[in-house]
Amino acid sequence: MAKQKIKLKILRYTPEKQKKPYWSTYQLEVDQDSTVLDVLNEIHWNIDGSLSYRRSCRSAICGSCALKVNGQNILACETPIHKFKGKKLKIEPLPGFPIIKDLVVDMDNFFEKLRQIKPFLILKKPLPDKEFTQSPEQFSEIRESILCILCGACTSSCPSLWSNKDYLGPASLLKAYRFIFDSRDDGAMERIDMINDRNGIWRCHTIFNCMEACPKNINITEYISKLKVKIVENSI
Ligand code: F3S
Ligand code: FES
Repeated sequence: MAKQKIKLKILRYTPEKQKKPYWSTYQLEVDQDSTVLDVLNEIHWNIDGSLSYRRSCRSAICGSCALKVNGQNILACETPIHKFKGKKLKIEPLPGFPIIKDLVVDMDNFFEKLRQIKPFLILKKPLPDKEFTQSPEQFSEIRESILCILCGACTSSCPSLWSNKDYLGPASLLKAYRFIFDSRDDGAMERIDMINDRNGIWRCHTIFNCMEACPKNINITEYISKLKVKIVENSI
């Protein structure tokens, strides 16, 4: 396989040891079709074992390897380095989250907000004998929204969240949409009460960053807008 020499900078930070983040520069030779994760692994395994980053599935499913490269939030495991067209890579942790170490960010607050919208089916009707059925039309309402892998790329790119850490954020709102519009769910009203708040859906100013950052190309802004319409319709 053809090899390529690359030069990159990675933002490093150990809060207990350093006053502020700093850049480390690396030069290495990698396969031309390497992903950003392959490059991080090569550094960690063969050059600098102190570099910290998250990864697990290596298949764009677990959502753990999201980070920022050359100003763009991406999944490291699915993004080939040639996407950056020979430019020097500048790798940073996801913005908007506290840094635990290097590229590893603290997502406790992200998952706490997700828990608030009750991310599971709420059933009040009797269980069916066999299974709940959904028509293709009913499923098409939620088809795209269930693709979310909770990587946090959308939430970390939202300027409304940067200025107000209490904002629920696009990932939680998308999850709220996914259940509120699910034909099997009976918890719409409690979820709507939860998101119809000054730190909930009305903090979204339709900036579209979340949609652009989503590695699954989910039209998050459109789903947030549909939720807003539903809340207004419910209140009339
Ligand atoms: Fe933020 Fe996306 Fe709304 S970027 S302001 S959640 S459209
Ligand atoms: Fe799981 Fe990248 S390692 S999404």
